[in-house]
Amino acid sequence: MRVDGKPYRTVWMEGGTVRMIDQPRIPHAFRVVDMPRHTDTARAIREMVVRGAGAIGATGAFGMAQVAAEAPEGDDFFAYVARGARTLENTRPTAQNLFYGIRAVLDAIEANRDDLAAAREAAVAAAQAVADDDAESCRRIGEHGAPLVADGARVNTHCNAGWLAFVDWGSALSPVYAAHRAGRRVFVWVDETRPRGQGARLTAWELGQEGVPHAVIADNATGWLMRRGEVDLVIVGADRIAANGDVANKIGTYSSAVVARANGIPFYVAAPTTTIDPACPSGEAIPIEERDADEVRWTWGWSEDGRFTRVRTTPAEAPARNPAFDVTPAELIAGIITEKGVVPATPEGIARVARA
Ligand code: MRU
Repeated sequence: MRVDGKPYRTVWMEGGTVRMIDQPRIPHAFRVVDMPRHTDTARAIREMVVRGAGAIGATGAFGMAQVAAEAPEGDDFFAYVARGARTLENTRPTAQNLFYGIRAVLDAIEANRDDLAAAREAAVAAAQAVADDDAESCRRIGEHGAPLVADGARVNTHCNAGWLAFVDWGSALSPVYAAHRAGRRVFVWVDETRPRGQGARLTAWELGQEGVPHAVIADNATGWLMRRGEVDLVIVGADRIAANGDVANKIGTYSSAVVARANGIPFYVAAPTTTIDPACPSGEAIPIEERDADEVRWTWGWSEDGRFTRVRTTPAEAPARNPAFDVTPAELIAGIITEKGVVPATPEGIARVARA
């Protein structure tokens, strides 16, 4: 997608360095930051310099290519690779794409075990393939999802499942972009998405860059707007999809799905098939990340005198909890928009599109 007219991907590799858009600074500043070693790349995922399922999948894959480049010659090569994979895997537990990206590069290394130079080259190629596949899958999600976005549609979305959450295009926002570019009138209600504000900060910024009409709403306004008939459909992303069609996504998604069902509003999930975890039987088995409670107590922003600063919004010692994701049961989902088409959130629908 374009930023001030210049095409960008969310994350890419140049030489041995992983380069990424510094997401916590958006919308206040746009800058690219460099991660020279795999430990820097792992820290960037953990601290959410890069975030979003597809984006951390590609970042994990690029991080593995760094691991292969850093690994010593000889017998210690594979021990270093295994340790590096664990370091990258241990950054965030919920998004399936992270594990998919790391595994894709590990497989490429393994296939070249007898020639370490070839293994290093194969690792870079495999990581690039993960990133390219993510961008292309998201573009196709737009093609398959655009017919659901009628002229004049008012779409509600939660968190950021736009291009910043992937390598390019996005999942939930890709059908919106495709419909908008086709000349249809589309309006997006953007849930603020406490505590980290991915909707208010990232989705609103993306939509503004693309010229899509939108309004940011407090998370607790969504249900009321649905009740008043001001929402025609919901499209959200996914961090992991279980084999039975249950979906883990940003905390607050489940509540939206329940209220959408109560008001007869179709609730769609958009995700590349790399988000499907065929080994996970249902949502109950999806690991849910619990983040630092300070993310609830404090918020970051730009002061009127131009300082990027944080302020506390609770009493200093207020106890807090910060589950980062929830699970929406399959029966609340109208369909899953994938790069292979729209499928029902059922075991049969998931099996039809899941990757081996
Ligand atoms: O914690 P984040 O920002 O990495 O959350 C992931 C997400 O961006 C959302 O849950 C999104 O809807 C699905 S990932 C495209």
